[in-house]
Amino acid sequence: MCGIVGYVGDGPALPVLIEGLRRLEYRGYDSAGIAVVDRGELQVVRKAGQLAALEAELDGRPLQGSTGIGHTRWATHGAPTDRNAHPHRDCTGRVAVIHNGIIENHDELRAELAARGHRFSSDTDTEVAAHLIEEAMADGVTLRAALMRTVARLEGAFALVVTAASEPGVVVAARKESPLIAGCGNGSGFVASDIPALLPYTRDVVPVDSGRLVEVRAGKVSLYSFDGTPVDPVPVHVDWDLEAAEKGGYEDFMLKEIHEQPAAVRDTMRDRFDVSGRIVLDDVRLDPADLRRVDKVVVVACGTSFHAGIAAKHAIEHYTRLPVELDLASEFRYRDPVLDRNSMVVGIAQSGETADTLAALRFARDMGAVIVAVTNVVGSSITRDADAVLFTHAGPEIGVAATKTFLAQLTALNLLALYLAQERASMPPERIAGTIAAMTRLPEQLEEVLTLEDDVRRAAKRLAGARDFLFIGRGVGMAVALEGALKLKEISYIHAEGYAAGELKHGAIALIEPGVPVVAIVTGRTHQDKMLANVEEVRARGAETILVANPGNRRAQALADELFEVPATKPLLSPVLDTVPLQMLAYFVAKERGLSPDKPRNLAKSVTVE
Ligand code: M6R
Repeated sequence: MCGIVGYVGDGPALPVLIEGLRRLEYRGYDSAGIAVVDRGELQVVRKAGQLAALEAELDGRPLQGSTGIGHTRWATHGAPTDRNAHPHRDCTGRVAVIHNGIIENHDELRAELAARGHRFSSDTDTEVAAHLIEEAMADGVTLRAALMRTVARLEGAFALVVTAASEPGVVVAARKESPLIAGCGNGSGFVASDIPALLPYTRDVVPVDSGRLVEVRAGKVSLYSFDGTPVDPVPVHVDWDLEAAEKGGYEDFMLKEIHEQPAAVRDTMRDRFDVSGRIVLDDVRLDPADLRRVDKVVVVACGTSFHAGIAAKHAIEHYTRLPVELDLASEFRYRDPVLDRNSMVVGIAQSGETADTLAALRFARDMGAVIVAVTNVVGSSITRDADAVLFTHAGPEIGVAATKTFLAQLTALNLLALYLAQERASMPPERIAGTIAAMTRLPEQLEEVLTLEDDVRRAAKRLAGARDFLFIGRGVGMAVALEGALKLKEISYIHAEGYAAGELKHGAIALIEPGVPVVAIVTGRTHQDKMLANVEEVRARGAETILVANPGNRRAQALADELFEVPATKPLLSPVLDTVPLQMLAYFVAKERGLSPDKPRNLAKSVTVE
């Protein structure tokens, strides 16, 4: 959730920290703060609110010093105030700590430290770490050794980054669960919670595994286990470019990322077919023997990734005839699921860091299942917990609302489903080839969908005042309906529900009154008649109908107050195209309401706590 960055080098730390925080602000924006070791003293500046508030606070205070740490907060313990903004200091003011995660035993530690005379100046769980480090350093140990002693006392999840006035030129960090990476380049060293912060300096990042300490000096990254044993750093190369992590002329990242979807889908398919058109997932390294013995698939994910999971369930069942269970990752391990070594569990997480999804996969792995991860981030935690990884190639997604990663997930999951069908011979090769041909047309079709932008903007202007929205669909259209509703509520704060159209008459139709917008997915032929009948029903009760349909659908044209026509494709691929107008609708409604789509309130890009 929170964004953390640390820098050591030969240049001034402050601009690097601010730039890093700008690139990490999507992780949380309740407050921001920095600490810089400046001529033997620790200078700390922190402020509630977005990064701009911190920058205003720093205005006219040019901090010197080339060692520092920075934090952008998503509040867990303690209100989002100046007092609770990170970094937090010890009693001497010579140690500063930033943290992402939750220290579960903080109450007990706080009581113990207070009894020994420590004074606390925040309501956070984090501050206990600063005082524990202070105590260790009072015994004359190094900052790294002090952090090592401290982590031994902490329970919960943490990525902690620490700097001390007595040790300029060093930043130390420790990771248990919460994400952390390191890197170095041109006489500098860095730690951060996510790749975009490092992109201006290096594309070779060192993932810091859970249970590791990292010490960063100018040009050097050293890793240790929590007991102090040195560990060799193994860098991974990230091919995202810097420009991809910037707005490139768009008003918001979300709009830019919506427009990057044709490329995200194309790149996710790239190099995954051989000359004869067979699907090759060599990079995924799935053992064919494992694939053949699988007798059931379980898909686990959260949020938008869960919606991709709905589409995956339909695709895998249809292509392979394997039964597929679908679970919200936060529920999965609490329902006593039946799994064994013949189960394949597919975890979907664009960030690769969602705490519930990671926990679900570990649970499944302990039960002997084959674990396949679908993620957009190389080196992320999920890649280390899985037997096989299928990467989406959407590039960095900064907008908190998932857009291009969703389409890339749908693409990757269809590939995975077809690959299973191919390897298990559950589908004739010519049908697989036909589906692949349809997939390769998607990027071009997406370009066409993007030309709807002006129509959607116009509709959004009209609809932005609505209090409630209903999104309805059937089959994979349900995934689109749920995703459309989630997009709208998370960035426009309008109440929206995604609903199985067939369930309307079992309750939700009572919500319909004149003027309530109902968005219906009526593409494809499979559910066409039933969907249009549902549209008639809500229309008869005064609903305003917004239809996503294929071109030339006369009945849809007649029933729609707003019509978004998207090209036809194979039914199981249709969410890739049908979702896009709904992403744009959410975006333009949010803009119409004067909201910031990239930074919706209370949300963060990756949910690293349960
Ligand atoms: O990183 P993940 O894909 O695991 O994230 C899961 C959800 O937190 C995420 O999809 C969330 O729902 C998005 N904000 C939706 O736009």
